[in-house]
Amino acid sequence: MSNITMCNSTSAQSALDLPRPFSHPLHVGRPNQGNRQRFLERVNEMLDRNWLSNNGPFVKEFELRIADLIGVKHCIAMCNATVALEIAIRAADLKGEVIVPAFTFIATAHSLQWQEITPVFCDIDPRTHNIDPARVEELITPRTTGIIGVHVWGRACNVEALAEIAHRRNLKLMFDAAHAFACSHGGRMIGAFGLAEVFSFHATKFFNTFEGGAIVTDNDELAAKIRLMKNFGFAGYDEVIYVGTNGKMTEICAAMGLTNLESLEEFAAVNRRNYEAYRLGLSGIPGLSLIGYDHSEKYNYQYIVVEVEEVKTGLSRDELVRVLHAENVLARRYFYPGCHRMEPYRSHYPHARLLLPETEKLAQRVLILPTGTAVSPTEIKEVCAILDQAIRTPPKALERLQAGSQVPQAAAADSQAGNESAVTGPPSPVYLP
Ligand SMILES: Cc1ncc(COP(=O)(O)O)c(C=O)c1O
Repeated sequence: MSNITMCNSTSAQSALDLPRPFSHPLHVGRPNQGNRQRFLERVNEMLDRNWLSNNGPFVKEFELRIADLIGVKHCIAMCNATVALEIAIRAADLKGEVIVPAFTFIATAHSLQWQEITPVFCDIDPRTHNIDPARVEELITPRTTGIIGVHVWGRACNVEALAEIAHRRNLKLMFDAAHAFACSHGGRMIGAFGLAEVFSFHATKFFNTFEGGAIVTDNDELAAKIRLMKNFGFAGYDEVIYVGTNGKMTEICAAMGLTNLESLEEFAAVNRRNYEAYRLGLSGIPGLSLIGYDHSEKYNYQYIVVEVEEVKTGLSRDELVRVLHAENVLARRYFYPGCHRMEPYRSHYPHARLLLPETEKLAQRVLILPTGTAVSPTEIKEVCAILDQAIRTPPKALERLQAGSQVPQAAAADSQAGNESAVTGPPSPVYLP
């Protein structure tokens, strides 16, 4: 506890026997910020130039840097990954039905449904948490036009198996790589697979441009189409040749991106350090397993993902979330309850859960713990101690919770139902299991 600031309140008792642990909430996705001075220099440069949007010099430089980093021909910077997905889907001419995992952030499904394309939910491989290629084929119908794989937690999905199916069945294959910026697969950077891949640079991602995203592709024709579509379909001053939208990244976002790119290695190293601290702290706690990584690849380690085996912990994942929240550790339940259990999909396909047994099980097991540059190894040790103590004496932990341990204000205000915008979004319905 030595480095942790204690709460001044004497009345507020921690849910467990620990002294009041965290005076500030520990978030899952606190923004990482690069060198402020460099950012402010760029902001001044931008203001002096008075070029704020519309494919400015920072956006152009940012796109070149990303394309170079990933090893692809084209990067088109966007206002966020959701709009980027919508545009990529439209530019690739996906229609009818598209196969996606149900174990993903809702934006993957919504980006299809938004344009009246049906997301067909596929089950996952419980070992990887990613879409299971063995289940994809049985979902293909005459209306299927594509597959969108998601590299959940930054670990690549089985791109080879998906590419083989897509090729054989004449489907288009794209990837939602929102979690996987600066990660690799088979020695190649994620972003270089399929027809196109989409990154998210949202504030809670390990690398951010405030809000932002990008489509990366090697396909010249697709890239040209995407560039027009993200700018209302304008092909010239007075000529529009497609239905388009406004997907442009602003100059200030690109300035943040260029600045944060300079700290990319450092952010990943901090996350790796935190991951190792959790590995140490959680080892020996029965029923908790931290997901593993293939250390021959590159990862951003931006999610600390723990699977809870209730028969061994004696506490359900949701009870553990409550224990942690009472200690001001704002653990989350991604991607609970699964896209198929959210509207409008829940009403459209009430039976979907029967086809998704592994998704159903995983959505009950996954616990996401805080990391990022705002979280120190000492704090991680403490988070692990809270879990250890709760699991060693489950009845006591439950008794304390039932006795009405207080959820700190900040925890309540910052928690939002099922999305990844906890830190930056407005307070909304409180999410507590
Ligand atoms: C898997 C996945 N896809 C898409 C998105 C949407 O990204 P954005 O917030 O940039 O629109 C997210 C956001 O967290 C995500 O986790």
